[in-house]
This record gives sequence, structure tokens and C-alpha cells, in this order.
Amino acid sequence: MEKSRSVHKAVIPVAGLGTRFLPATKATPKEMLPVVDKPAIQYVVEEAVAAGVKDLLFVTGRNKDTLENHFDHAPNLERTLAERGANDLYKSVVELADLARIHYVRQGNPLGLGHAVGMAKEHVGDEPFAVLLGDDLVDERTPILPKMFETQTKFGGTVLALMEVPSDQIHLYGCAAIKETNETDVVQVTSVVEKPKAGNAPSNYAVIGRYVLDPAIFKILETTQPGAGGEIQLTDAIAKLIDLPTAQGGGVHAVIFRGKRYDTGDKLSYLKSVVSIALDRKDLGDDLRTWLKSYLSE
Ligand code: UTP
Repeated sequence: MEKSRSVHKAVIPVAGLGTRFLPATKATPKEMLPVVDKPAIQYVVEEAVAAGVKDLLFVTGRNKDTLENHFDHAPNLERTLAERGANDLYKSVVELADLARIHYVRQGNPLGLGHAVGMAKEHVGDEPFAVLLGDDLVDERTPILPKMFETQTKFGGTVLALMEVPSDQIHLYGCAAIKETNETDVVQVTSVVEKPKAGNAPSNYAVIGRYVLDPAIFKILETTQPGAGGEIQLTDAIAKLIDLPTAQGGGVHAVIFRGKRYDTGDKLSYLKSVVSIALDRKDLGDDLRTWLKSYLSE
């Protein structure tokens, strides 16, 4: 029997401008950049589905057509592949349309991640929900969502995912001050700050792109003012949840992530994701490894 789970819906913001990856992202959302033979967003959707969440809301902006088309039927292509007897390709294309129930809401103006999440209020309603950033890839061998869902069931409130990063990198992330709990790799979050200035970070724990949020966040987001980078920051709204009484949806915990993840919106991290995932593939890994070794020794 399926274990009872508190999270049934996930929000996937994909409306950012992707300026770090221009010009590739001028007309294509960065979430559609291929990582080997799937767009980055497909890994994210598969991760949510593997964790049992099939109701997904994409917060999109301009260029949403390619995303919508990717997760829809493509009758001409499907017919051609079927006629050619290209069974594996046919399956890979058809299955995508039935992977999840995907809904769309348009952000209009990309005012920041907090603003994007705020767009999900009507769809989500009054229950805890997951947020998966569409450009953040978590290695499927080290999933984090199941542990985050368990933590939410146990402690209630909001659950973040944290990863230890070198001190000279923490200014690029949201950063959390933490207190241990009696559970391994589950901590209480005592404060959180977006992109702290060098030397001001309360810890080396960076917030990564997986969240389980209490719906109390929506009311807070309505009055959250632009913060770091002039954007309405999700982190600033989460900081307010920390001080909210438990009965009103307050309290923030986090799961420490020790696996591999990639920010596909960052050029170097994107390249690493392609190489790492290709090296693990049965059909490509050996040949790529051989080529890489000889290329690097030249
Ligand atoms: P990022 O800060 O990585 O996205 O947001 P960005 O603004 O597109 O990146 P750069 O710095 O310009 O390259 C994290 C996630 O939040 C989404 C992005 O699409 C990404 O998945 N996002 C961000 C929105 O949906 N709306 C926004 O207003 C901002």
C-alpha cells in the first residue's frame, strides 16, 4: 500500500529570463536545453513523478510553446515513428504525454522566484506543496523529495533542501542558519538569507531548488517586497515563515542533501551535467569515456 503522503501537487517555475545562458536562451527557455537527449525540464518532471507527485503546475513566461509541446502528443511524429517501426523512439515520445497532469499559469512579468510561486495560489489551494526549480537537476540515484515529504509529515510547516558549499560560493545562494534535530540529516532552520554578502553568511548551507512549502507562504508573498537583485525573493518569504506560529503554518526544517545536483542555468554546471549523465549511460558512457581520456591527454 502507498504510504500516506502530505504532498500531492508540485509547482515548477520556468519563467526566468535565463540571462546567464544567453544567447542560447533568447528564444528557448533554459529548461528546454538538452542534457544528452532530454531537455533539463524532463528530468525534473520525472523526479516529481518518481516521488509520487503527478499534478504539476508550470509557471511559464514567453516561449512556453516548446515546453507545452514537449509534454503533449505529437500526432504526425508518433504516426511516422510507428510506421517506421521505431518502437523505442515511439515509446519515448508517446509516454511523455501521459507522464503527469501538467497545468500552466503565466507569470507575465518575471519579477522573481517568489512572485512566480505566488502565481500558484489558486491551483495549489490549502495544502502543502512541492516546488522544483526547472533548471535544477538532482541525480536520480540520490533523490531528495521522499525524505522531504517524510520530514513535512513529521514536523509540519515548510521543508527546504540544503547543500554544503565552499565559503567562496555561498554568496550565490540562499543561505540557512540551522540547529540539529535528533534525526540524521534533518535540521531546524533558524534563519535564512538570500545571497549573503561575502563574510556575512550565517553558514555554508545553501538552499537548493527543492522545497515543500506550507500554503501560508501565499499570504506572505503578497506583501513581500523586492529583495536581492531587485527580485521578489522566495527566500525572504520563507524567512517570515520561520517566525510564524506553528498553528498558522509556521516552522521551517530542512533535509541535508549529499548527492549530486546541477544548475543547468549556469554554463559550467550545465556542461558537467551533460558529461556526467552521458558517462552513466549504457549506450554512450564507454565511448565517451574513451574519447575524453584521449582528448584530455592530448
Ligand atoms: P534563476 O534566478 O536561476 O532564473 O531562477 P533566471 O532569473 O532565469 O536566471 P538568470 O540569472 O537570468 O540566468 C530559478 C528558477 O526560477 C524561475 C527560473 O525559470 C528558474 O527555474 N523563475 C525565476 C521564474 O519562474 N520567474 C522569475 O521571475 C524568476
